[in-house]
Amino acid sequence: MSRVGIFGAGWVGLVTGACFAELGHEVVIRDVVPEKIEALRRGEVPFHEEQVPELLAKNAERLTFTLDVNDVADCEYLFVCVDTPPTYSGDADLSRVWTVVDELPELDGHPILVMKSTVPVGTGEKVRVGLDQRGLDHVGYASNPEFLAEGRAVRDFMSPDRIVVGAFAADDADAVSSLYASIDAPMVRTDVNSAEMIKLAANAFLMTRISFINEIANVCEATGADVVAVAKGVGLDSRLGPHFLRAGIGYGGSCFPKDSLALKQLASNSGYHFQLLSAVIEVNELQKRRVIGKLKRHLGPLRGRTIALLGLAFKPNTDDMREAPSIVLASRLLAEGADVRAWDPVVRGNDKLPGAVEIVDSVLDAVRGADAAVIVTEWPQLADLGSAEVHEAMATPLIVDGRNLLDPEATRRAGFTYEGIGRPASPSDTVPQAPPAAART
Ligand SMILES: NC(=O)c1ccc[n+]([C@@H]2O[C@H](COP(=O)([O-])OP(=O)(O)OC[C@H]3O[C@@H](n4cnc5c(N)ncnc54)[C@H](O)[C@@H]3O)[C@@H](O)[C@H]2O)c1
Repeated sequence: MSRVGIFGAGWVGLVTGACFAELGHEVVIRDVVPEKIEALRRGEVPFHEEQVPELLAKNAERLTFTLDVNDVADCEYLFVCVDTPPTYSGDADLSRVWTVVDELPELDGHPILVMKSTVPVGTGEKVRVGLDQRGLDHVGYASNPEFLAEGRAVRDFMSPDRIVVGAFAADDADAVSSLYASIDAPMVRTDVNSAEMIKLAANAFLMTRISFINEIANVCEATGADVVAVAKGVGLDSRLGPHFLRAGIGYGGSCFPKDSLALKQLASNSGYHFQLLSAVIEVNELQKRRVIGKLKRHLGPLRGRTIALLGLAFKPNTDDMREAPSIVLASRLLAEGADVRAWDPVVRGNDKLPGAVEIVDSVLDAVRGADAAVIVTEWPQLADLGSAEVHEAMATPLIVDGRNLLDPEATRRAGFTYEGIGRPASPSDTVPQAPPAAART
């Protein structure tokens, strides 16, 4: 069993650390935020991710949390799991990666620096030079991009579709691969640049599928087809498969938006205009805003209307609000003069959400007296939104289902006006058109 050091106690670092400890390795997790490390030492996990608390507790004797970079000095592997957010230009900000390289303590033997953070192609080559310049030419380097999805991160780590390892030296690739020996998954061994590109290309392709089905949904709306049936019929084609063909209000999260921008910029910086990716990004931006048009079609001007946003996290089973569509939607609704009330089972507030958004404790509190309920995140708790209790509570029984979670027919039978994404809409005259009294003053 090996001794593994991890830089970054975020989603990727903690999941990687917890899972390596579960596989029997000794793990030291280092972060720079004292509150995070103190919380972890107390057994508290700083974010919502299934199975992580249990794995950390179960393997506590093999896990150390530290602020001190010297505590990783005797590790054979040094995993870089720091954040790589977008800069103003859209390029990935690698400042935290460089801080890690600059801070590495005295290292003996032949430890390997393993890049799990998502980085532009060419980063590994630059880090290799940086290590050599620091006199750390005895430190190996490998790229081992991470493909886990939040909400199912432990499952993804333990049962991945593939493990990608790119290294400059075959021995280093062998060593990194051996860490995963007990995981049954195809191993893709490649050069460092290609490993970096695999991660960016995989994310870009998933986003392309989302924007593609969202555009098909928009054409379905204009032509009377139902995108749910269309996606099923398309996805059963074995050349295409069913994944990431769910129409909705667009992708968000900590990875897709920033990684698409970073790949677009990487291409531009190399003199190539990545037209398809530019369109994917633009379609996604427009998709988030289409909900406003749907609300106006039924309610007229939104000024003075109360809109319930159901779900704030960028997807279910996480409390991650990074680039969540709810932030754009809330801001747009407030700009239209609406009152915004929001519910989420795990997000209790966020500094990115406009302060005027009222966050309440239950779905019923959110919809009480509301003129419309918008499903923003497909939390399972919303599956029975079309209930008599909700109908009774709302001022106007209008549901805009941004994730196609509900059965349109059953919801309409229950007395609601229902709008999904890419599905035949309810007639627009089923909801009173007059603006409420507050808006007329
Ligand atoms: N979140 C995901 O679903 C996901 C999936 C695959 C890949 N990735 C990539 O993995 C990387 C990390 O993502 P994340 O979501 O875990 O980020 P995160 O923001 O949740 O965590 C990053 C952590 O690194 C810490 N950190 C910053 N500088 C440090 C330093 N010098 N030493 C030690 N710790 C330091 C931060 O304090 C933070 O706790 C990113 O490049 C991301 O694109 C993320």
